[in-house]
Amino acid sequence: MLMEGGPATAAIPPHSTATVAPPRYSLPPCRFYSEDVLFCVDVDVESKAEMAKGRAITRLDAIKQALLLFVHTKLSMNPDHRFAFSILAQSVSWLRKEFSSEVDSALSAVRAITAADSSYGLADITQLFRIAAHEAKKSRAQGRLFRVILIYCRSSACPQHQWPVSQKLFTMDVIYLHDKPSSENCPQKVYDALVDALEHVSEYEGYIFESGQGLTRVLFRQMCMLLSHPQQRCVQDDLDFPKSLVRKSPPQTDAATLGIKGSSLYLKHHVANRYPDNTRFNNRRSCKAFSIQGSLVTGRPSSSVSVSDAEMGGSIDTIKDYSLKVADPELHALIEKEKQRQFNCLELIASENFTSRAVMEASGSCLTNKYSEGLPGKRYYGGNEYIDQVETLCQQRALEAFHLDKHKWGVNVQPLSGSPANFEVYTALLSPHDRIMGLDLPHGGHLSHGFMTPKRRVSGTSIFFESMPYRLDESTGFVDYDMLEKTALLFRPKLIIAGASAYPRDFDYPRMRKIADAVGAFLMMDMAHISGLVAAEVAADPFEYCDVVTTTTHKSLRGPRGGMIFYKKDPVLGVDLESAISNAVFPGLQVISNCKTLATGLVELGYKLVSGGTDNHLVLVDLRPQGIDGARVEKILDISSITLNKNSVPGDKSALVPGGIRIGTPAMTTRGLKEKDFEAVADFIHEGVQIALKAKACVKGTKLKDFMDYVESPDFSLKESVSEVKKKVEALTNQFPMPGV
Ligand SMILES: Cc1ncc(COP(=O)(O)O)c(C=O)c1O
Repeated sequence: MLMEGGPATAAIPPHSTATVAPPRYSLPPCRFYSEDVLFCVDVDVESKAEMAKGRAITRLDAIKQALLLFVHTKLSMNPDHRFAFSILAQSVSWLRKEFSSEVDSALSAVRAITAADSSYGLADITQLFRIAAHEAKKSRAQGRLFRVILIYCRSSACPQHQWPVSQKLFTMDVIYLHDKPSSENCPQKVYDALVDALEHVSEYEGYIFESGQGLTRVLFRQMCMLLSHPQQRCVQDDLDFPKSLVRKSPPQTDAATLGIKGSSLYLKHHVANRYPDNTRFNNRRSCKAFSIQGSLVTGRPSSSVSVSDAEMGGSIDTIKDYSLKVADPELHALIEKEKQRQFNCLELIASENFTSRAVMEASGSCLTNKYSEGLPGKRYYGGNEYIDQVETLCQQRALEAFHLDKHKWGVNVQPLSGSPANFEVYTALLSPHDRIMGLDLPHGGHLSHGFMTPKRRVSGTSIFFESMPYRLDESTGFVDYDMLEKTALLFRPKLIIAGASAYPRDFDYPRMRKIADAVGAFLMMDMAHISGLVAAEVAADPFEYCDVVTTTTHKSLRGPRGGMIFYKKDPVLGVDLESAISNAVFPGLQVISNCKTLATGLVELGYKLVSGGTDNHLVLVDLRPQGIDGARVEKILDISSITLNKNSVPGDKSALVPGGIRIGTPAMTTRGLKEKDFEAVADFIHEGVQIALKAKACVKGTKLKDFMDYVESPDFSLKESVSEVKKKVEALTNQFPMPGV
C-alpha cells in the first residue's frame, strides 16, 4: 500500500501485452520521484510535556527521534530526497533553509530545535504556507515533489492562518500530539482546525494523525505512515494498520469489532480506542469538507461516513454509507483501471477533455439527489432554494463566459447534453415536418443535425423533421456556401444549422446569416466542439449572427457533462459584448497553436489534411493517399496508447471503414502539452500509420475483421514496434499531471 514512486512504467497498463503477473498493489505511477520535505516543529512549551507519566522523555525528544527515523528511512529508499527544517513559535521561521540530502545536515538541524519556556498563545501558520508555496514552485521546476510535515503540540491553541489559497502547490501532513481532553483544553477543536488547514492547502492526499496517549511507538508508527509518496497514497481511511501493532482489543462499541470497514470511523476509533486511556476524538473527517468532497474520482474518502447508530451500539436504525471501494469493489476496480488508462494514453479525441477536480466534486455532490423541474423561482417541487441559486449562478456565468449581454441573451442550462439541447431547440422553433439544413454527417456534421441516409432516417432529427444537408466542396474541404445558398432557396428551410463535429475551419457566419435571411430561416450554431475557443475569443463569434447557439459543456469548455442553449432575447442582430472578462475558462490560444503545430507536422510527414489545415482544435487527416483507412490506423494507435477516432472524409463510401482520422488537441493541452510535444505527437501518429500499413500487408483477407483478428492474434509480428511507440507515448504522457485525480 505504501510504495515509493518507482518508474512510471511500473504500473501495468490495462491493455498491456506483457505477460508478467500484475503487482498486488497497482498504484498510479507518479510524476515526481524525488521529494523536498519541509518539517515544521512546534516549539511551544507544550512540546516539553512528558510523553507519558513517569517517563523522562519529552514530546520534543520523541519528535526529534521520529524526524531522524523518517530522514534515514526516506534516504535509504531514495538518496535524492531532501529535507529542510522550520519551527513554529508564534509564527513560523526557518531553522535550516537549505534543502539537503545529507544526514549530518538533518542531524544538526534537529539538534538545534529547542522548546520555549512559556506558551506562545498564538500559532500562526500563514508563514509556513507562504514559505512552502514559494519553495514548492522551485521544487516543481526541478521536477520534484514538495511536502510539508507539521508536528503540532498544543492542546488549547488552534493554529490560524490567513492564506488566500488559489492553487494547491504542496502536500501537507500533520502529526498532532496532545493532552487528554479535559475542561481546561480543547484538543478536538485544535484537531478540527488542523484538518481545515490541511484541507486548505494540500495538493495530494494529506494525512493527519493524532495521539493523546504519550506513546513513542505510536508517534514512530505515524511517522512511518508518512513515508508514503503523496502521489501514490491510498486515502487515509483505507490505511491498513498491521495486525501486529494492534495489541489490545478495542472496546465492544468500537466500530472495528463490528467489522465496519472502509469508514474513517473504523480507522480512527480503531486506532484511538486501542488504549484504555486514550482520548475519544470525534476525529472523523466526515463533518469536514475533506471527506464531504469524497469521491472515487478525486481519490478522497467518500462523503459522510454514516455507520448506523445500531452498529455503534445505539438503537437508531440509520444507514450504512460505504465508499464505492467497499460497497462495490468490482466497479471501483474498473474505474481505477479507466483512470490509469486515461493517465497513460495520449488523449486526442477532439470532443474529449480532462475536467478538473472541482468539477468532479460538484458533479458528484448531493445536487444529484434533487428534482428541480421548472425554472428558478418556478418549480414543481419544494426544497429548491439552493438549487435555484445554483442554476441562476450557472446562467450568469454562462453568459459571462461568452461575453454576452444579459439584456440581449438568455440561456437555458438544463439540457443533459448536446443532442438533447439541439432537439429541444427544434421542438421550440419548429413544427413536425418543418425543414432543416445542417452539415452532412459524412462531411463533418453531427447526427443531431438531421442526418439520414438514402435508405434510412438515422436520427430522430430526420424522423420528425425534413432534412436536406449541405456539404463541403470536396476540392477545397471548405463548406460549399454557394451550393448551400442555391439549395436553401429551393428547399426553403425553417432552420439552418451551423456547427460540426469534424470540420477544422471556422464557419462563415455572415454568409450563413445572409442565406437564412433570404429564405426566412432561423440560424442556429451548434458550437459544441469549439465553445471553449469561442469563450476564449480565439474562434469567430457565432453570437453576432445567430439566433440560437447550443453547446455541450464537456468538450473544449472543460466542464461537467451537460448542454446549454443560448437564445437571443430580442431580434436585433449583433451583440454588444461585455467588456473583457477573464478568459481563463479555457487555454484557447494554446489549443489552436498546438493544433496548428500538429497539422504542420503531419503535412511535413506527407499527410493530406481535409481543407489543408486547421483554424481550431482539430485536424482531419485523409489517409487514403497513404493506402490505409481510419479504422485500421485507429486500432494500431489504440494499442499504442494513442486514443483518437476514425472519421469520414469527403468522398468516403463507408462510415465503418472511413478514410480518415480526426485528431483533437484540447485534452492534452489541458494536461500541459505544448507545441514541441505536439511535434512528437505527429511523429508518434506517423509511426502508428507505418505499423498499420505493414500490418495490412501481412493480413491475408481484405476485410477489416481480418485485420483486427490478426492484430489481436499471437501471430501479430509487429508487437515490438507497437510496444516501442507505446513506451515513447507513455514516457510523454506520464510527465504531465492529469487533473481531477
Ligand atoms: C457538434 C456536436 N453537437 C452535439 C453533440 C452531442 O453532444 P452529446 O454527445 O453530449 O449529446 C456533439 C457530440 O460530439 C457534437 O460534436
